[in-house]
Amino acid sequence: MSRIKDSSVEEIKAAANIVDVVGARTQLRKVGGRYTGRCPFHEERTPSFSLSPDKGLYYCFGCAAKGDLITFVRETEQLDFTGAIEWLADRFHVQVEYEESSGREDERRRRRERLVSLLEQATVFYERHLWESPGGGPAREYLVGRGLHEEVCREFRLGLAPGGSTLVTKALEQGFSREELASAGLAGRRGSDYFSGRLLFPLADARGRVLGFQARRLREDDPLRAKYVNSPESDLFRKGDLLYGLDRARGAIAKQERALVVEGNTDVLALRQAGVEPVVASMGTALTERQLKELARTTRRIFLCFDGDQAGEAATLRGMDLAAAQGLDVRIVPLPPGQDPADMAERFEDVLGGAVSYLVYRVRLELDRAADRQEGFVRVRELLGRFEESPERQDAARLAADRLDLPREMQAGLVPRGPGSVTGTVSAKALDAGLRRERDALAACMAYPELRPLLAELAPEHFDEESHRRLRAHLLDGEPAGDDLVGLRAELDARGASGALDVRTGRELLLRLRERWLLRELASADLGRMKELQTALGKIREAFLH
Ligand code: UTP
Ligand code: MN
Repeated sequence: MSRIKDSSVEEIKAAANIVDVVGARTQLRKVGGRYTGRCPFHEERTPSFSLSPDKGLYYCFGCAAKGDLITFVRETEQLDFTGAIEWLADRFHVQVEYEESSGREDERRRRRERLVSLLEQATVFYERHLWESPGGGPAREYLVGRGLHEEVCREFRLGLAPGGSTLVTKALEQGFSREELASAGLAGRRGSDYFSGRLLFPLADARGRVLGFQARRLREDDPLRAKYVNSPESDLFRKGDLLYGLDRARGAIAKQERALVVEGNTDVLALRQAGVEPVVASMGTALTERQLKELARTTRRIFLCFDGDQAGEAATLRGMDLAAAQGLDVRIVPLPPGQDPADMAERFEDVLGGAVSYLVYRVRLELDRAADRQEGFVRVRELLGRFEESPERQDAARLAADRLDLPREMQAGLVPRGPGSVTGTVSAKALDAGLRRERDALAACMAYPELRPLLAELAPEHFDEESHRRLRAHLLDGEPAGDDLVGLRAELDARGASGALDVRTGRELLLRLRERWLLRELASADLGRMKELQTALGKIREAFLH
């Protein structure tokens, strides 16, 4: 990827309007110098999203989404920095300029763009063949037979491969080379079409760019035995990086704060047709780290739906272990053996109601697999020991205790005192309170410039958190606030403007921070210094009274 020139980034930032961009995602209402609305990042009835057009910062009091225009575009469009800048440039009609890049890099980018464009044209070609040619008849009937309506099939851009050299010939006419056709996975070794007589499911990345296909067998006499044939793996297409349907489901996943992962592509279509939208397919293999990362960008809550026959299989387990290890909130939805989600699309919300937490699911499995009670106990303890304390862990422990029929005094032995022990939690809370005080003090300083002289009396050491120290320096000396401070500034800007903090409270918070520091110093001071500190402390306590 080439770098965008800094001047270009500045130009785009100046031309873009955050109110327009955010306003396209949620209805904004002007209140004083700010805008409020329902948060585009989570489902809510009453507005808790707050935007400052002057500072270009937003914050949601409900879900803590925060940032500036670029963060907003990155998160809502799922783009990286460069992608977000390009997106904004496009939207506000600014020409993007790139740094002089090495000729090689440029060439790679151009080549990639050509392959993507070839795949897009192939997708359109296959779609036409499915819907507009007489040869598409049997495939259309097949879809009808499966209860999939044209609308949903068109939405997912299903297609049909005529075979022979139809696509290759057409692409060559359009100026693509044989080498490009092979690299895009569209031509086989002998130079004819790679896919033939199969129903095509385009596989797109999160931005909706088609990178490859999965081709389902339609005919008994298909020379290839596999039910699905995938595009060959290449630099461009890696099946393990993609989730089927993610580009279509992303909006719904973000809104409903949950993603449902099913196995089959057709299940995604059937559920979508029944109105269940936040659905993607893992495409029959264990979930990969890349797939989970991609999902985790949009939600932390995932429901894994598996055919009851496969639910205990190694690949399935690997995927859910990986997801749980990444800190995702994983729930398992075992389906009746031999049944697909597609078979129960209409009542799928009920099916989801039967979901169990990952830990409960794993505990059941460990107990099923253990040879005796003793082994079950050891297995469960080992499993639960790897997780922090949580309501799910308690549920899982209770379940195990029941099934192992443990006497009361042994139940505690199932959940070792680990990272989540009581003392740990308490001190974490105290720490939070201190940091919250630092934050609120800074928020007040942002909202009320008259507090700045008081802030100037505090040293960096009065703040425990490094980012708070840097924000202090930024407010006092105008030191540039780096990109990593954007989120903090956005949050504090909104807090300061929310009316929850008045000048008086701000002043008191700043005094409290000085008091805290003096008390800490006192703890390790020698006699001479102690006197000095106590005087200072006395003055501060005096100041509280005014
Ligand atoms: P299924 O066999 O459940 O496929 O495999 P399906 O899509 O539900 O097919 P129908 O209902 O028989 O039409 C689940 C997924 O595993 C991948 C596909 O992505 C499929 O959707 N798969 C399956 C392959 O990649 N290759 C195969 O040979 C089979
Ligand atoms: Mn199926």
